[in-house]
Amino acid sequence: MTTTPDVTELESTLLAEVTAADSLEALEAVRVSVLGRKGRITEQMKGLGGLEGEARKAAGQSLNRVKDNVTAAISAHQLDLEAAALEARLAGETTDVTLPVRPRPHGRIHPVSQAMEECIAIFGEMGFAVAEGPDIEDDFHNFTALNIPPEHPARQMHDTFYLPERDDGSRLVLRTHTSPVQIRTMENSKPPIRVIAPGRTYRSDSDATHTPMFHQIEALVVDETTHMGHLKGCIIDFCRAFFGIPDLPVRFRPSHFPFTEPSMEVDIGCSRAGGELRIGNFGDGADNWLEIMGSGMVHPKVLEYGGIDPAKYQGFAFGMGIDRIAMLKYGIADLRTFFDADLRWLSHYGFAPLAVPSMVRGL
Ligand code: DAH
Repeated sequence: MTTTPDVTELESTLLAEVTAADSLEALEAVRVSVLGRKGRITEQMKGLGGLEGEARKAAGQSLNRVKDNVTAAISAHQLDLEAAALEARLAGETTDVTLPVRPRPHGRIHPVSQAMEECIAIFGEMGFAVAEGPDIEDDFHNFTALNIPPEHPARQMHDTFYLPERDDGSRLVLRTHTSPVQIRTMENSKPPIRVIAPGRTYRSDSDATHTPMFHQIEALVVDETTHMGHLKGCIIDFCRAFFGIPDLPVRFRPSHFPFTEPSMEVDIGCSRAGGELRIGNFGDGADNWLEIMGSGMVHPKVLEYGGIDPAKYQGFAFGMGIDRIAMLKYGIADLRTFFDADLRWLSHYGFAPLAVPSMVRGL
């Protein structure tokens, strides 16, 4: 037969331990040693099973009282310790709000993003909306609908990346130009159409002026009376705004693209004096020229493929390499450096955020 535990002594010992705990960790240790699974009160509770009737009841009540008192003491002491810890932290942490802000490194805007934004701003002010299409294209949109039938030599010229053959024998491609967005736009909207489509393009090619992934921007205008004068005016205004040179010479040279008729390549005036390439008008007009884009009146077959009646509508289109015009404008010699992800290069050629100027109104 077990004797009734002497709870009075136990209670004062435990309360003294609680009071003596001088940190939250020490208090937690006391709590575990008293109330935990193997704690001293818990163990005593287990011992009650050996008592009989009234004795067991009385001992249980006293033990419960001790447990309640100790639990209350722990909670109260915990609040005191927490308040003291907060006080100590606040006393140690003072902030001098008059100190200047420490400089922090800022990210930079990549020249491709910058050039793309500038193009969008210029064409945006001319009333163009931005259109998008997928990077992975089908043969129809990338070639056939642009009047490049199977066996057409232009398919070979594009150094296309093909995806593996599908069950029906067809192969998707990584789009070789942004021109398929012309077709997708015609399929999804009705004239008047006035869109630009900036985006990534892919060709299996790599040297100082070619990378397997590069960027183009495409433009498409379709309406009932759109003519070549509009095409020329639009492109001349764009070139002068983008390069920030109001009298920049712009030349249209007959060329050939399957999706336009007639087709023209667009050159801008430059100087190569002293072996240095500079863009602009150097007094006597321009005797040196630099090709920057392809353009033309949309071929009737292309309109038809896009679901637009060529008897009623006509339009113009052009496309150019964004990386290329960025290199020319910002004086970057090697295209491959654009995609090396070198932070030193980016901090040199990159642009500060929050400072994208309107290229139409000038810097
Ligand atoms: N898609 C052509 C290329 O990648 C560029 C081009 C030429 C786009 C003439 C056009 C255009 O819209 O009319 O080389």
